[in-house]
Amino acid sequence: MMAARVKLVSRVLWLGCVLAFRCLVLVPGGLPGAWGLDNGLAMTPTMGWLHWERFMCNVNCQEEPDSCISEKLFLQIAEIMASDGWKDVGYEYICIDDCWMAPKRDSKGRLEADPKRFPNGIRRLADYVHSKGLKLGIYADVGNKTCAGFPGSFGYYDIDAKTFADWGVDLLKFDGCHCDSIQHLAEGYKQMSLALNRTGRSIVYSCEWPLYMWPIFKPNYTEIRKYCNHWRNFADIYDSWESIKNTLDWTSSNQKIIVPVAGPGGWNDPDMLVIGNFGLSQDQQITQMALWAIMAAPLLMSNDLRHISPEAKALLQDKDVIAINQDRLGKQGYRLRKENSFEVWERPLLNLAWAVAIVNLQEIGGPRSYIISVTSLGRGLACNPDCLITELLPEKRKLGFYEWTSSLKTQINPTGTVLLRLEKTS
Ligand code: GLA
Repeated sequence: MMAARVKLVSRVLWLGCVLAFRCLVLVPGGLPGAWGLDNGLAMTPTMGWLHWERFMCNVNCQEEPDSCISEKLFLQIAEIMASDGWKDVGYEYICIDDCWMAPKRDSKGRLEADPKRFPNGIRRLADYVHSKGLKLGIYADVGNKTCAGFPGSFGYYDIDAKTFADWGVDLLKFDGCHCDSIQHLAEGYKQMSLALNRTGRSIVYSCEWPLYMWPIFKPNYTEIRKYCNHWRNFADIYDSWESIKNTLDWTSSNQKIIVPVAGPGGWNDPDMLVIGNFGLSQDQQITQMALWAIMAAPLLMSNDLRHISPEAKALLQDKDVIAINQDRLGKQGYRLRKENSFEVWERPLLNLAWAVAIVNLQEIGGPRSYIISVTSLGRGLACNPDCLITELLPEKRKLGFYEWTSSLKTQINPTGTVLLRLEKTS
């Protein structure tokens, strides 16, 4: 284990130097990229689908065969992801969350899928997913039990990592429920990272380590980044505007801590996209998509791709917005300003371009206009001496050429967002 850790750390140092060099070249005066888990994965935020928010722990396949957690659900979603344009725009990982397991481990201590709901087992499911050109994610827990009470991985990290690798799994979401101490939590997250590494299979490692640390003390993000490809910081997302707002508030309140650590290989995870469900208006869905792009968040949809409105599908498949999310510079955006119930967020992009999102948080009245002087954007550089501005959301349209002293007038619906891309003209 010691040898493996030393090797990991030295490779991490090497990657850190490479990233630092790359960032210094691309962003004059910019800070070197933070060091990350060196498994070569998640160089841009992970994109895919995760069952939890929409399907939760429904194990009642007798009465609800179409929405219970069973291989049928994942087979159907995989088929649609491959055939309905999702894969083409980048959604790649189809991820199982909690409640897939049998209640007990097998006689050799290995996890098993529930035999009634997954009669062909995870290996066969992974084969099918791979045959569609997609990847499979699975879920386990660092403690004694998963959050929903299924077998936990404490004491079984190596066995479970090997089982997942043998099955052909490509991503592990590792939850933090039922862990008896903060030491076990931290050690467990690290040990599972090393165990996955030892399998030799490329497995994206999605952690919830900081979320479970925050109530006790401030997480060490530099350390977390060395072991995880992305990490949840804040409460579970719900299908509601309240939940989206709380997630954005938490993120902006903690941006000094969390934004600098994000970069290729390691990302802050504000949880799933709930676009296409029941709780958000069209404007609120636009806000989620725009801000998840600004935050360089993993784009893991939790919805029913078998029944989704054309508007939600178009929004989730918007290539220009996805391009911002997946921008190779890999810098997370931040909130620039909050005034008069508007928020302005911005994110630096490759080639000195910037993404800007303006959110209207006033929940009374109609659309309100917001005038922004472009001098204030992109640390004074985005439109210096001039820039081309394109509106991406809510509508795709070229707004034209702006000089450094110009102002831009936007009109934004209540709880909606205008997402802009600013490009240098030369
Ligand atoms: C926790 C996680 C959720 C989900 C559930 C499953 O609450 O934060 O994302 O995985 O457990 O039980």
